[in-house]
Amino acid sequence: MALLSLALIAIVGIFHNFATAPPVFAVDEGKEVTHGSVIKLQHERTKFRLHSHEVPYGSGSQQQSVTGFPGVEDANSFWIVQSPSGTEFQQGDAIPNGSIVRLQHVRTHKWLHSHLHQSPISGNLEVSAFGGDEQSDSGDHWKLEIEGAGSVWLRDQKIRLRHVDTNGYLHSHDKKYSRIVTGQQEVCGFAKKTSDNIWSAAEGVYFPARSTA
Ligand SMILES: *[C@@H]1O[C@H](CO)[C@@H](O)[C@H](O)[C@H]1NC(C)=O
Repeated sequence: MALLSLALIAIVGIFHNFATAPPVFAVDEGKEVTHGSVIKLQHERTKFRLHSHEVPYGSGSQQQSVTGFPGVEDANSFWIVQSPSGTEFQQGDAIPNGSIVRLQHVRTHKWLHSHLHQSPISGNLEVSAFGGDEQSDSGDHWKLEIEGAGSVWLRDQKIRLRHVDTNGYLHSHDKKYSRIVTGQQEVCGFAKKTSDNIWSAAEGVYFPARSTA
């Protein structure tokens, strides 16, 4: 696992060096988002990317903040798609609807996390980045809900991620921070299903599906 992480960081380094002219890792229509893939999650309505960085929240849990980021190329928007610890999924496995996944932030190794703290701007559920390679709990578990048709998660497909402990949907909206992470928008957990909790997998490094490779 450590070796895999190193390889992924190397890959992300390559992306970072092409900051002005990102290489096109072609998104083949109809291909799976597989376990172990490194992806950016795009918020459908605003096109911001799910993002984290070493900036703690000034309120709530004071854990590492998670935001929506306006640019496409920032390396702090890469997340590794993982299964919960103790499950039998392997790198390259397709991810069926209803699966529980974890998203690990590549740069800081923390997990996309939520809990009952209030989010800073809208007072919904706070979404943070928490834990690390050796530290993860059920607050890092998200259930995949595929929108429309299809039995496994595909690139470019609309999805929702529902937080298992709180039932909040991973959500973002036009509410923006005006200090420190100016221009980035709030990401929170939201109780209701709306168009603002739809996301899709965008740029990334996708492991080919094992079954069809
Ligand atoms: C995926 O599962 C959710 C419930 O977990 C359901 O609402 C949704 O319709 C399913 N999507 C597909 C494409 O079957």
